[in-house]
Formats: sequence, structure tokens, C-alpha cells
Amino acid sequence: MKGVILAGGTGTRLYPLTRLINKHLLPVGKHPMIAYGLDRLHQAGIEDIMIVMGTHSAGLYTEFLGSGKEYGVKLTYRIQEKAGGIAEALNLAKGFVTPGEKFVVLLGDNLFSDDLKPYVERYMAQPAGTARVLLKEVDDARRYGVPVFDPANPERIAHIEEKPSQPKTSYCVTGIYMYDDHVFNFIAGISPSARGELEITDVNNHYAAAGSLEYDILQNYWTDAGTFESLQEAAVRMKGQLP
Ligand code: G1P
Repeated sequence: MKGVILAGGTGTRLYPLTRLINKHLLPVGKHPMIAYGLDRLHQAGIEDIMIVMGTHSAGLYTEFLGSGKEYGVKLTYRIQEKAGGIAEALNLAKGFVTPGEKFVVLLGDNLFSDDLKPYVERYMAQPAGTARVLLKEVDDARRYGVPVFDPANPERIAHIEEKPSQPKTSYCVTGIYMYDDHVFNFIAGISPSARGELEITDVNNHYAAAGSLEYDILQNYWTDAGTFESLQEAAVRMKGQLP
């Protein structure tokens, strides 16, 4: 199994800091943000990892992480020249993932303390061409993708609403996704959203419509560290997670 960490994006909510350095290299306690995602993948037994990043700070990633040896992983780097959405960034992993192979995708600003292993094991038992997402109960789901469960089969997600003004559940779809190479066919079939991006929610909704989107619910701390408040909280909550 492989891993892909999406670490592009401009991080406008963290200006002016992100004018200097890419969001995923900002400090979260003792370590840059990206180190936590690498550690979660390594803990789950995933060692072959691609980092997709923008041109901004690209040299700093290789300078800091090198081959990945220090984290017990083998890194491959790819550049997304211009921000065009999560699904567009994910598409750059085509070729890295071999036919029939399953992989885990992390959004680099998602920080969490759950061990991914049990979720990965459940995904490995799913049939080819299906997907799995991880959910988290949140106070305000309006900022996120929000799942609507299938009443006929509550283990499946019927569809996901992206940033709804009136969320139908109190869960968010976190930036932790599991796919196989079928995902690239779905990406090829979607069009840019109103904000001009290829949305990961549109990709996941293809699986949901086919009845093949399963989920788990994260039990421990999770945040999307894209704002100063969540970044500061993450530094406290993630303390001790990495040596
Ligand atoms: C993205 C996804 C959203 C998801 C969130 C998790 O939102 O579009 O569905 O809930 O990541 O971090 P963004 O942070 O790009 O607005």
C-alpha cells in the first residue's frame, strides 16, 4: 500500500506567514506540519509516499525531509504548478499508484492522533473500485464536506454536501481518503466547481452514487490546521506525538 500527502495550496487563511513559507512547513510544536502526516502513514505500515506540493517552498521540503529516511519512509515528490483543487493535485499521483494498488491520501493540513491501521485494514478488505473516508464529529460542519448517510444501509454514505449552510449531520469528511487506481477514472470525469477547482467531494460522490463509499469515525483529536486558532491548538494537542 502507498500513501499520498497533498501539500500544495496557498494557505491564504494563514497570511502573512504563508507568503514566506508553505502552510505544511509551518511549525506545529517542535516539527513542521507535514511531519505528522508522514508519521501517521509510517505508523500504519505505509512507507512508499508521494508528496504533492506547489512550487512555493519546494526546495525546503527536500532540504528538510530529504529521502524520508529519518522518518522510515521513501519519498517521491511531485509539483502541482498552479492550485486547481484537491482532486487535481491527487491526479498527479497517477502512475505512482500501480493498477490494482490501494493507497491512502492525506491532506497535509489534517492533524490527528488516531492510529490509521484499523481503518486501513478495513479498507484492504473492501472490493476493488470502492473507497473509504474517515469522518469526525465537529461543532460546526458548515466549513467542511458533510456526509448524508444511506437510510437503507447506514454503513454507506449516500452523498456528501460540500460546505452546506445547513448541514444534515454533525460529521465532517476529513481529509483522509482511501482509494485504488479507479479513482483516476472518476477524476477524469469531473468538471471544475464554481470556485474553479476539481473538488474531492465530487470524486467521492461518484463512489457514493455507486453505493461504494464506506467510512469510519475518528475517535480521537482531529483538526484541519488551516487557521491560526486551529494551528495554535494543534501545537498543544499534538505535543508528544512525535519524538
Ligand atoms: C477540504 C474538502 C472538504 C473536507 C476538508 C477537510 O476542504 O473540500 O470536503 O471536509 O478539506 O479538511 P478545504 O479545506 O479545501 O476547504
